[in-house]
Amino acid sequence: MPSFESRYAAYCDALDANSQRRRLLPSREPVAGQTLLADFSHNDYLGLAHDPAALEAALAAGRMHGVGATGSRLLSGNLAPHVELEAAIAAAKGTEAALVFNSGFQANASALAALLDTAALGAEPLVFSDRLNHASLHHACQLMNVRQVRYRHNDMTHLRSLLETHRSDPRPRFIVAETVFGMDGDQVNMAALTALAAEFDALLYLDEAHATGVFGETGYGLASGWMQRDGRSLGVAMGTFSKALGVAGAYVACSQAVRDYLLNRCGGFIYSTAPSPLVIGAALHHWQRLPQMAEQRTALQEKARTLRERLHILGFDTGASSTHIVPIIVGAAQTAIDLKQWLLDRGILVSAIRPPTVPPHGARIRIALSATHSTAQIDTLMAALTAWKQQAL
Ligand SMILES: Cc1ncc(COP(=O)(O)O)c(C=O)c1O
Repeated sequence: MPSFESRYAAYCDALDANSQRRRLLPSREPVAGQTLLADFSHNDYLGLAHDPAALEAALAAGRMHGVGATGSRLLSGNLAPHVELEAAIAAAKGTEAALVFNSGFQANASALAALLDTAALGAEPLVFSDRLNHASLHHACQLMNVRQVRYRHNDMTHLRSLLETHRSDPRPRFIVAETVFGMDGDQVNMAALTALAAEFDALLYLDEAHATGVFGETGYGLASGWMQRDGRSLGVAMGTFSKALGVAGAYVACSQAVRDYLLNRCGGFIYSTAPSPLVIGAALHHWQRLPQMAEQRTALQEKARTLRERLHILGFDTGASSTHIVPIIVGAAQTAIDLKQWLLDRGILVSAIRPPTVPPHGARIRIALSATHSTAQIDTLMAALTAWKQQAL
């Protein structure tokens, strides 16, 4: 009998054959003898991860409430910072309530799963999902054994036609999408999506992980103000504190009834220690600051627009990106790995994203722009990409 280790090793070896094996990078901290000129691999879109005032806010919350929450919210862990942050989120998103989680993956995998529960709905739900939704959203559907009806990425006409096909189906409908897609950097059309959800009486579940902090007039995401229609809730907008807010954790903004339900049915909330006061203290600090960061948001999108233009001139394919996330789609997984290494050899760190995270033949490098990137750093990136193009000719 083969050992467990040899079975797991064989699984990873098979990934190697398709250039799909994942490996941890060395620590991001500077290594002796290596100079990192620019890091486009992180999601610290507003440069807040090292913000001294947020660190102070975290420490103040930690001093008052402890470094850990010491229990689930339903037991000992329900602390004033959680309550305060949730009230601020609900007000900002225009929903009745909100609930915080330890991570975005946990929020999606457990809250969406709970909402899809046949026992609560009275029937198995019909889930219309964007084909490029994040793994955590698929995970929730898989967990609940729900078959997804996948619509072409961001294609509202296709979504409408699928909804039409199932119009007479009495089962409860869900529409699940991201508002800014993490690997493509394009945005949903909120007006079209909310209109479809209302027309077809579908619960809208939106993931604002990459929009929170960066989009919306006050920085609270693309779904802010869209989650109510004709006096009723259209569904749930989740988002994370782990990207533009530079912290960790996530929120689900929803109706009071949905929040009450999640308190009673969502395993990732019920059976998990509440987020640390340190994390919530920092997240609350940044959340309250977001409306004052309009200038940084505008500058970030302007930087992204210029970068896309320069990449197009060089003949690179940036797909449908219209945000600070700019992919360079190269097709083959090995090309993405080679280009990533080419850039790293020149002091530039980017992420290589390969299937199955992206569709087959959609391998890419992902350039995540931040408000902190300087013109010189972007010029360095462009010089290295120009050299890559020249050697590839
Ligand atoms: C769209 C989307 N949703 C959810 C998550 C998970 O968030 P977190 O990193 O906070 O677990 C991510 C992060 O990778 C994401 O890109």
